[in-house]
Amino acid sequence: LWLITGIRRRLPGEPPVENGWIPYLGCALQFGANPLEFLRSRQKKHGHIFTCKIAGQYVHFLCDPFSYHAVIRQGRHLDWKKFHFDASAKAFGHESMDPSQGFTTENLHQTFLKTLQGEALSPLIETMMENLQSTMLQSGMLKAKPSEWQSDGIFAFCYKIMFEAGYLTLFGKELDGDQSIARQQAQKALVLNALENFKEFDKIFPALIAGLPIHVFKSAYSARENLAKTMLHENLSKRANVSDLICLRMLLNDTLSTFNELSKARTHVAMLWASQANTLPATFWTLFHMIRCPAAMKAASEEVRRTFESSNQKVDPMNSRLVLTREQLDNMPILDSIIKEAMRLSSASLNVRMAKSDFLLHLDNNESYHIRKDDVIALYPPMIHFDPEIYEDPLTYKYDRYLDENGQEKTSFYRNGRKLRYYYMPFGSGVTKCPGRFFAVHEIKQFLSLLLAYFEMDLLDPDVKEPPLDQSRAGLGVLQPTYDVDFRYRLKSH
Ligand code: HEM
Repeated sequence: LWLITGIRRRLPGEPPVENGWIPYLGCALQFGANPLEFLRSRQKKHGHIFTCKIAGQYVHFLCDPFSYHAVIRQGRHLDWKKFHFDASAKAFGHESMDPSQGFTTENLHQTFLKTLQGEALSPLIETMMENLQSTMLQSGMLKAKPSEWQSDGIFAFCYKIMFEAGYLTLFGKELDGDQSIARQQAQKALVLNALENFKEFDKIFPALIAGLPIHVFKSAYSARENLAKTMLHENLSKRANVSDLICLRMLLNDTLSTFNELSKARTHVAMLWASQANTLPATFWTLFHMIRCPAAMKAASEEVRRTFESSNQKVDPMNSRLVLTREQLDNMPILDSIIKEAMRLSSASLNVRMAKSDFLLHLDNNESYHIRKDDVIALYPPMIHFDPEIYEDPLTYKYDRYLDENGQEKTSFYRNGRKLRYYYMPFGSGVTKCPGRFFAVHEIKQFLSLLLAYFEMDLLDPDVKEPPLDQSRAGLGVLQPTYDVDFRYRLKSH
């Protein structure tokens, strides 16, 4: 019977199996409704590892952080590429970027490392700082009389500023000597349009990853294609100050791939999504929690003031040229902790690997389990982020959770008296760890520093409740709030 229904029977040496009640879907609905609760209840029943059938796929959830290493370490039995390449092609509609499929010989991983880290980081953050300032201080963001309060949703505000500045940083500005008002307005309209299209497409992203075809979603499909049109090489090549990432990707699309022009453009849409989809909600949560916590606001403002003062910079919105070097940004442990704490509470990315062959997975407690070829092994970091043994009062926001007694970055976290190697994983792990993570943290630090330097701000309702996380995106990264929260801001008088 189990052969006919597709239900798996546990064989000796394998983890306990949950087939769920529904054929094919298995446990998908229970998992989707509240992944953390679901996994915790199964962990209580089965222990460190168990297998769930989710949408036709057998997934082994590994819940012991001391055993994470067995999966994160790149073993010859585990493959991370297939899943990523398939997911990207499915969601963005480009041909496969997996060199083994024959459409390109680009080593994407290398491209990312070369253009987002090391030497490449300084020019990126320099451009971002300029773009953030011009976006934040442009006319639409401020009242005619700058001393008047302006109100907005925190989510809406973060999306507008970070999207525009991030978009211009990666994709450059229109190449045109003409800096007339009309020209600038056209430039602005292009970015606002891109933001609307991005949001429309991003809404259905979970459905695409779950395997639904994009044609079911007419407006999201046209949003994605509109974005792609603006990113055709003929359009990108008219832009100035394009980042190394996009320049190199254009070059490699043109020289190492057989993609057609539309497919090339769609690979750039994938880059836009990767660079924004997590950063935007992460920025929201960081600002939201900080504004709500007077101690966090005070400590952060002091750190920002000290940083600008130590490099003799005057804050002047009429001449907005504040600079933060990479060294300065690396030396802001309070902002660092504020960002980490917000992401601990809001990120929910599933880390997955696929078994290339049958093999034996060794856990930290010396138990070993048989894993079958083509099964998935998954780590779900919220299991550690909300573990009360690792983080005291895990549901409470503590802005200084990641600061040690000397006010520096805290890196010692324990479970059962043992020091943990993995205690904070919003950026994934091992080879699939986000290559943009340094840029991401730096840009959020820049955003906060500029806000704190230029603006006064507070919540419209000081007792506002924390909006719940939108769990429909669980597994895909930083979750969005289910609704926006209003705040007000105005320029400080200097
Ligand atoms: C991949 C998180 C910002 C570029 C990833 C992954 C995670 C992640 C968890 C791995 C996905 C997986 O294992 O399936 C985040 C978070 C961010 C952020 C939480 C912000 C707070 C950025 C930024 C960029 C970026 C700003 C680029 C400018 C990428 C790229 C990948 C990736 C290109 C794919 C890497 C690959 O498949 O080899 N990100 N990311 N990310 N991220 Fe980020």
